Amino acid sequence: GMSAQLLDGKQISTEIIGEVRSKVDFRVANAFRAPALAVVLVGDDPASAVYVRNKKKACESAGIRSLSYEFPASLSEDALLDLVRSLNEDPAVDGILVQLPLPSHMNAERVIETINPLKDVDGFHPYNFGRLALKMPLLRPCTPHGVMVMLEKTGVDLVGKDAVVIGASNIVGRPAALELLLARATVTICHSRTRDLADKVRAADVVVAGVGIPNFVQGDWIKPGAIVIDVGINRQADGKLCGDVQFDIARTRASWITPVPGGVGPMTIAMLMRNTFDASVNLNP
Ligand code: GUN
Repeated sequence: GMSAQLLDGKQISTEIIGEVRSKVDFRVANAFRAPALAVVLVGDDPASAVYVRNKKKACESAGIRSLSYEFPASLSEDALLDLVRSLNEDPAVDGILVQLPLPSHMNAERVIETINPLKDVDGFHPYNFGRLALKMPLLRPCTPHGVMVMLEKTGVDLVGKDAVVIGASNIVGRPAALELLLARATVTICHSRTRDLADKVRAADVVVAGVGIPNFVQGDWIKPGAIVIDVGINRQADGKLCGDVQFDIARTRASWITPVPGGVGPMTIAMLMRNTFDASVNLNP
């Protein structure tokens, strides 16, 4: 039967990291230093350890220097804030990434607000979030930006399309909705208190799911021809990864769909490399 085209995030990510590499090499050939990214990991969350390792590997491919700061969960918030302030002041550092979640004794908002917005390569600082909301983005949150790059790859014009975002988190849903609005889609944001979710999804030309619950979006809700972007990364009992969308059924209805793994995940990292390069250019003109 009919089957959606796959959006290969791994392949697109490799292309983008190669483009960043070329731009880094050009600057280095013109007497600029390589961009430098400080990667801060606090605690021993196993998923975070994997994400941080992948980010450092991507830096190597992109020609970006990564500076690693790893601490036990017992690190005090004051010590973390002091580290962030010293990275803000350090002219050899262009980007600061503090991997989330932070241990529960820390105030993540306070940590994020302490990062110099010009070095905020995650795009989480209220300054960068506000810039996106005001249609003048500077450093854009990596995962939603990666979603937009994948949507661009479909060649489908988003202007006036009905987009449904499922999940209203600060990292995925909210900024994804702002990105889609910037692209002039008509955006509906759904969350845990949304009524008649199935009807909202059935009406959508574009579905972006980021809730963190396996098979939360049933495949038969997908409108024939819709584009499905699955931001979920859920580990099942058997150790395998799956998304938030019931993939096997959704793929028989969608025009385009992202796999998990190998969809949005690698795009987040590619956008981080782009942001680090852009921050480096902005700080070292
Ligand atoms: N935790 C989940 N996603 C992200 C991300 O994109 N950046 C950081 N720093 N932490 C995360």
